Amino acid sequence: MAEGVAAKPRARGSKRAPGRAMISSERIAKRVGRLGHEISEVYAGSDTPLVLVAILKGATVFAADLLRSLSIPAELEFVRAASYGAGTKTSGRVKIAHMVEGSLEGRHVLLVEDIVDSGRTIDTILRRFRRMKPASLRVAALLDRPARREVDVKIDFTGFVIPDRFVIGYGLDYAGLYRELPGIYALS
Ligand code: IMP
Ligand code: MG
Repeated sequence: MAEGVAAKPRARGSKRAPGRAMISSERIAKRVGRLGHEISEVYAGSDTPLVLVAILKGATVFAADLLRSLSIPAELEFVRAASYGAGTKTSGRVKIAHMVEGSLEGRHVLLVEDIVDSGRTIDTILRRFRRMKPASLRVAALLDRPARREVDVKIDFTGFVIPDRFVIGYGLDYAGLYRELPGIYALS
């Protein structure tokens, strides 16, 4: 059944999450709006539309909101990197399993990531992308967890810096689950 326009919005975030609330959906929305504004200012006046490259799957929720908070023309592409298994520890190896469609040569590229942990995922993708000669290449990460960093990476736009806890929600999963939670929770 289609939802009526006058229908009351369903209460969001009321679903039980297996952890402690860390960042509310309201705080996320505010921060993403600001990031969108900041990013739009940086790329305003570019000769070509920005290419937003979301890293599958975790960054899809963030990328969808970020895309809609931009006031500049932008395209949306996806790249898939696989490093984590079903656990909470990185395997240390990153493989690119799906590449963007078309060329990035001469394009302004913004990589969109859910969380930068060891830094290996972003580092691997940045190396690959640099070879494609983009006009510019930057990184937007919703979350930065510096405690477990192994590779030095520059994050140009950061949503939140978080403590050393495994988090779920807003696109981030544990064994494929909990991406649908509107806020971010520390897994217990
Ligand atoms: P890195 O390569 O170690 O920086 O790990 C980054 C990737 O691991 C992200 O794209 C996430 O998909 C995943 N990841 C790292 N930490 C978490 C977490 O706390 N929750 C869910 N996924 C995570
Ligand atoms: Mg990821």
